[in-house]
Amino acid sequence: MRLILLAPPGAGKGTQAELIEEKFGIEHISTGDLLREAVEKGTPLGLKAKRFMDKGELVPDDIVVEIVKNKIRDLKEFILDGFPRTLEQAKILDRFLEENNEKLDAVIEIQVPDEKLVERSTGRLSCKCGEVYHEIYNPPRLEGICDRCGGKLYKREDDNPETMYSRIKTYKMKTLPLIKYYFQKGILRTINGDQDIERVFWDIEKELNKIKS
Ligand code: AP5
Ligand code: MG
Repeated sequence: MRLILLAPPGAGKGTQAELIEEKFGIEHISTGDLLREAVEKGTPLGLKAKRFMDKGELVPDDIVVEIVKNKIRDLKEFILDGFPRTLEQAKILDRFLEENNEKLDAVIEIQVPDEKLVERSTGRLSCKCGEVYHEIYNPPRLEGICDRCGGKLYKREDDNPETMYSRIKTYKMKTLPLIKYYFQKGILRTINGDQDIERVFWDIEKELNKIKS
């Protein structure tokens, strides 16, 4: 399956993408994680991207599009988390898939009320391996240590209330129009994200099983 997870910051895209990857064996591609990797390595692309990420703004389309194309070029199945985030990115993705005689199977929209987003993101603990935890809602077994790889958990620089407000505003301005775009294509599936992690996954799994059959 070729899937997109579409949701505001802190809604649970990364969390659900990891669960889908585990259950269905589909590769999870997070543009946020790829950009943070480039920032940490200090590459020219990373340095450019950091300026936008620190302000809660979107990194320019051309940078992100290249990263995604290189990642999905040889993949039959993927879960895109955090891409596309603008209409332009969505159209470029459609063209790219069309050129390869491929198409998206579903866009999973996860709906979460604004007030929960800040709470989820400010309590988040991240690991380099892609796992995400929450201090209250999904704590690791050992404090500060990743259950999966034993790595040291850290707080993301953009997980502070001020940057979160800016990220939510950016989402509403630039990314929300994609919901209509994919609804009109008939591939939008909306999930209630205001439930615990297992319940959200249960609902996503039901949708994915329908697509597969
Ligand atoms: P990115 O890393 O994609 O950040 P984001 O979209 O803001 O989303 P988050 O990663 O913050 O949240 P999430 O939905 O993955 O939630 P998670 O599962 O971690 O992007 C960062 C930046 O990179 C952007 O601001 C932009 O600058 C740039 N960028 C990235 N892609 C781009 C693009 N395509 N174009 C341009 N720029 C781009 O969960 C959050 C927390 O909640 C965790 O602690 C988790 O444990 C907890 N949680 C999850 N689900 C539940 C639940 N159901 N109940 C309770 N807690 C839960
Ligand atoms: Mg994420």
